[in-house]
Amino acid sequence: ILDTKDLKIEQVVINGQEVQFCLGERQSFRGSPLEITLPVALSKKQEVVVEISYETSPQSSALQWLTPEQTSGKKHPYLFSQCQAIHCRAILPCQDTPSVKLTYSAEVSIPNDLVALMSAVRDGEAPDPADSSRKIYKFVQKVPIPCYLIALVVGALESRKIGPRTLVWSEKEQVEKSALEFSETERMLKIAEDLGGPYVWGQYDLLVLPPSFPYGGMENPCLTFVTPTLLAGDKSLSNVIAHEISHSWTGNLVTNKTWDHFWLNEGHTVYLERHICGRLFGEKFRHFHALGGWGELQNSIKTFGDTHAFTKLVVSLKDVDPDEVYSSVPYEKGFALLFYLEQLLGGPEVFLAFLKAYVKEFSYKSITTDDWKAFLYSHFKDKTDTLNQVDWNAWFFSPGLPPVKPKYDMTLTEACVDLSQRWIKAKEDDLGTFCSADLKDMSSHQLIEFLALMLVAMAAPLHPVQVGRRHTLGSRNGHR
Ligand code: BES
Ligand code: ZN
Repeated sequence: ILDTKDLKIEQVVINGQEVQFCLGERQSFRGSPLEITLPVALSKKQEVVVEISYETSPQSSALQWLTPEQTSGKKHPYLFSQCQAIHCRAILPCQDTPSVKLTYSAEVSIPNDLVALMSAVRDGEAPDPADSSRKIYKFVQKVPIPCYLIALVVGALESRKIGPRTLVWSEKEQVEKSALEFSETERMLKIAEDLGGPYVWGQYDLLVLPPSFPYGGMENPCLTFVTPTLLAGDKSLSNVIAHEISHSWTGNLVTNKTWDHFWLNEGHTVYLERHICGRLFGEKFRHFHALGGWGELQNSIKTFGDTHAFTKLVVSLKDVDPDEVYSSVPYEKGFALLFYLEQLLGGPEVFLAFLKAYVKEFSYKSITTDDWKAFLYSHFKDKTDTLNQVDWNAWFFSPGLPPVKPKYDMTLTEACVDLSQRWIKAKEDDLGTFCSADLKDMSSHQLIEFLALMLVAMAAPLHPVQVGRRHTLGSRNGHR
């Protein structure tokens, strides 16, 4: 039985012999089970080659088919996929669960004036013998991956080399800006290897998609997908690249066994992401973002309500579409747990050693929260008493804020708090005291934090005089 969604199945052949199949009734977001009958002649343990001829639907929930008007160049159509969490079944029949890993190879036939890329190593291109107006692109992914990491893009793509293992791909209009924006990529990869162990995927390319790409970034192996909104001009959103790079270890090597344990993917990845940015910009910067994450967690919990089941770290997705549950909670509650454990167990160095050992232990596997916890106890076997102080039940299974708040260095946050307090408390007579110099020494991250504090701290909207006339923040940070 394989998962499918909006696929038209034409024929199934097993070991060269056509067989019966039955496409079951559609089960809402899950799609339709494809039941294939094995030929009677098959013996146990015999290798089985299953060939399925099928068509996807224009409505495939994994695919966006863009018209030329929806691209930068306006001349060619564009196709891209997004499989995580359970949309791979809308591209091909598969066991659409992260508990199963597979290698893949593919051949893609497309019009001559377009380029195809996949989440794999490129393995050559050649004229399509069946049609001189088309080319065939070949791909191979030799590392076993969960099927949610299968990805495809076809468009009028160009590339530029920005590092020894990195090309940045986009339509030609974005190539130059992308190359500048993502110039830190190789430095980040080296730091990530230092933290996680060897990078096993060969190439690390970046693809800048059209604006309708629905995420900030997606860790497709060998080819991270990113939104063009990262092109801020000042590299201020490069943490997203650090994040997707980090998934090369946590997520793509060590994978959540089911989507109930999604925090294992994202919590560890945010933890690594913040260490990479910490190495580049300092420990205070890491703490600043860690605290910003705690704020995001507070916001999400407030939005859901603090008894909502989706605010639990470990969720129960039986009969629930994972896309309905998606929020900052697995990212930031997951990060908060790891950051708290870092402080409890002896600091960043000690905890990074655990993380490296964790990656080594579970690479090429899919695991649950219990597997993670058992390995934590075995790694810190001389600190069992300390670990037993942790309220595991509350961290894993209670809704709302975590039972403990970690400690954060406040240096970079204080400037944001001070300025927001001045704004909030300002009376009309004080307005002359605000000037552009207030913002001069603040990074764009601090400006964002300042604005976030204004949003949260304000019981009532600002009085018009407080946002009035020349005392605005808009011009300096236009891209926000
Ligand atoms: N893998 C996620 C994106 C995702 C998660 C897609 C679940 C579909 C289902 C990716 O690594 C991610 O976390 N992206 C974040 C950016 C990151 C810096 C927090 C995003 O897109 O917001
Ligand atoms: Zn992620």
